[in-house]
Amino acid sequence: MVRPATIPITELEHAAFCKPEDQLPAKSLAEEMAVNVRWQSIPSDYLHLSAEELDQRIHQARQRLGSSVTVLGHHYQREEVIKYADFQGDSFLLSKEAANQTEADYIVFCGVHFMAETACILCAPHQKVILPNITAGCSMADMAPMEDVDDAWDDLQEVLGNDGGIAPITYMNSIAGIKALCGRNGGAVCTSSNATAVVEWAFQNSQRVLFLPDQHLGRNTGIKLGISPNDMVVWNPFKPLGGNTSQQLRDAKMVLWQGHCAVHTRFNVSQIRAARERYPDVTVLVHPECTMETVQAADMNGSTEVIRKAINEAAPGTVWAVGTEISLVNRLALNNPDKTVFCLDPVTCPCSTMYRIHPAYLLWVLDGLAEGQVINQITVPEQIREDSKIALNRMLALR
Ligand code: 13P
Ligand code: SF4
Repeated sequence: MVRPATIPITELEHAAFCKPEDQLPAKSLAEEMAVNVRWQSIPSDYLHLSAEELDQRIHQARQRLGSSVTVLGHHYQREEVIKYADFQGDSFLLSKEAANQTEADYIVFCGVHFMAETACILCAPHQKVILPNITAGCSMADMAPMEDVDDAWDDLQEVLGNDGGIAPITYMNSIAGIKALCGRNGGAVCTSSNATAVVEWAFQNSQRVLFLPDQHLGRNTGIKLGISPNDMVVWNPFKPLGGNTSQQLRDAKMVLWQGHCAVHTRFNVSQIRAARERYPDVTVLVHPECTMETVQAADMNGSTEVIRKAINEAAPGTVWAVGTEISLVNRLALNNPDKTVFCLDPVTCPCSTMYRIHPAYLLWVLDGLAEGQVINQITVPEQIREDSKIALNRMLALR
């Protein structure tokens, strides 16, 4: 099936938040919404609360709720939100925490939808997972809608079914239905911290891998395993057979879904060159969602947790140019005043969907719980939950 190409609204929104660093701290929700964004509606009392009022009321609500609530926070959350997290991590660590942390009745997930959905799949049956702003999605995950992936999978079975087959591997940044497809078909989930181990595992039982939805993480991972980019094809969901011939699909070792992250594809080789000219001793550290050229020109690459640890543990006086989301880069710079830490991209652009978790939304869902009302609960249909858990558990068993 062919359908017209569209750009996810969340990707268009990224540019609305590119701004000078001194304007990054949170304003009231009403002021932030004034740039014409499509965020979730919220009762009007929360719109004009100042940062101080929000802080005071979030503390009060948390005290009232005690250990019945745990707050998980991804490294890309703004400072004004991450400070309330009981546990901070990359996607992998947060999914492990969601599986291990069985005490709290409510898990408030300060991150994006696919992360909260994963927590809902892995947590205990009595726990409820809440995403403070239900519109906090991920533009990359939006690039792989279920019907397109189902169509692609059927086409691939038809072309490759009797020819060594293909294992589906999905990056955590995808909807639960895709994780379930992987679980049902001998595949697994991966994150940026274990993609190499998961793809290597997939090749033990299959001649090829379908990697969803980030073509860059897929390509960078294949290269780490010694696979040539010439042995990879891109699947464009807007074209028949993804824009490939049957023979090209049979010859490929990896089929890469045509998705990308609008934040990480901003980093490029000329920014790396400029950083090296300015600081000859600089270490360039980027996230593997960056393009192949950027990852190859950098000194190191890794998940947000790898980036955080490398810089926190580095020697004083070292210089780091970082290719990842600005909230994390700024936090690392702030926490490491004895080192020089800066963003590779001179224009600072937060991930617009991570940014949708404004502290006013956090207060709103906490106030709801204190009054016995569960706002923005994330749920997953039972069959999808079971199948996607198979794919997630395969990943967790590998690392
Ligand atoms: P990490 O798993 O490295 O935290 O990455 C998640 C993500 O969305 C990066 O854009
Ligand atoms: Fe998605 Fe990119 Fe934002 Fe990560 S940084 S949540 S991949 S849009």
